[in-house]
Amino acid sequence: MSGLPMTAPEPGLPERVTIYEVGPRDGLQNEATSVPTAVKAEFVRRLLAAGLPVVEATSFVHPKWVPQLADAAELMTGLIAELGDRARELPVLVPNERGLDRALDLGLRHVAVFASATETFAQKNLNRTLDSQFEMFEPTMARALEAGLDVRGYVSMCFGDPWEGAVPVEQVVRAGTRLLDLGAKQLSLGDTIGVATAGHVKQLVAAFSDAGVGVDRLALHFHDTYGQALANVHAGLQAGVTTYDASAGGLGGCPYAKSATGNLATEDLVWFLTGLGIEHGVDLAGVVGTSHWMAGHLGRPSPSAVVRALATT
Ligand code: HMG
Ligand code: MG
Repeated sequence: MSGLPMTAPEPGLPERVTIYEVGPRDGLQNEATSVPTAVKAEFVRRLLAAGLPVVEATSFVHPKWVPQLADAAELMTGLIAELGDRARELPVLVPNERGLDRALDLGLRHVAVFASATETFAQKNLNRTLDSQFEMFEPTMARALEAGLDVRGYVSMCFGDPWEGAVPVEQVVRAGTRLLDLGAKQLSLGDTIGVATAGHVKQLVAAFSDAGVGVDRLALHFHDTYGQALANVHAGLQAGVTTYDASAGGLGGCPYAKSATGNLATEDLVWFLTGLGIEHGVDLAGVVGTSHWMAGHLGRPSPSAVVRALATT
């Protein structure tokens, strides 16, 4: 076995996909183990070396809310010292103006705000109502854009919410278009608790298209709680979406959504895309080696099937 699948392209799918790596942020924000800053920096460096075109590095959120990422400034300062402008291009989460100020102080160029599609999760994750979260984002995004930054908008709980159950697609489209209206360049649609299924993915993408939002502005962010993440990527590819969030080794979850388990593993996504002959530019062995190394720091094996199949001791 070569460590890569045979390639058998499927007609009608995109030729190239961007993998948006969220392991250092979405993965590590949920770890019980406190990961030393130097290990986080090495994680980011290794992911870049493996060819991941975008690596979301950390979050400038309140350190009491997410203590795992309280070292965000220290991490980014160290990465900038080492990588210079390459590090300033790494996206970070900022929920509000205070977070943006912290990112601007370091000269970072890409930020992401994160909205909830549901009332309950807006309150649990952001301490805001569904409506007032946008009052927090509005000045944050306006100032970010004025400073020439790129803003990504996440929407969480797009396919279901652990407290509210089913989430109507129109409600997700409303939240997403509000972020786009505020100037988000790309919208990442989050299946925060991993309940999405393939038909639902197509329905949501179509609803955005009906609202005038093309697939070129969408990214899909799956969690693999029910083992549906790759089926959902396939549905997204059939609908024409070309950006997929993934987390090395399948790390992740959300500290304010207890039912959120790991993200779609980057390795599983790379294996899948490679099999379909879709270009992604990522070195699978490099990511597997990185996840295997990180699993050693975290003290538990990666949940990714591809990591388990390919990693050697
Ligand atoms: P709050 O308590 O309402 O904050 O929290 P506040 O605005 O009332 O401010 C209270 C104090 O916190 C003030 O200090 C602020 O300066 C300070 P004081 O004046 O009292 O001394 N403060 C901050 N300090 C540092 N950095 C900041 C910051 N903001 C305020 N950015 C807040 C509101 C939004 C800050 C809080 O709820 C928070 O940090 N939430 C973040 C939760 C989080 O990170 N969740 C995980 C990410 S979302 C996710 O994972 C989903 C996603 O992956 C997609 C998917 O899977 O669906 C993206
Ligand atoms: Mg997530």
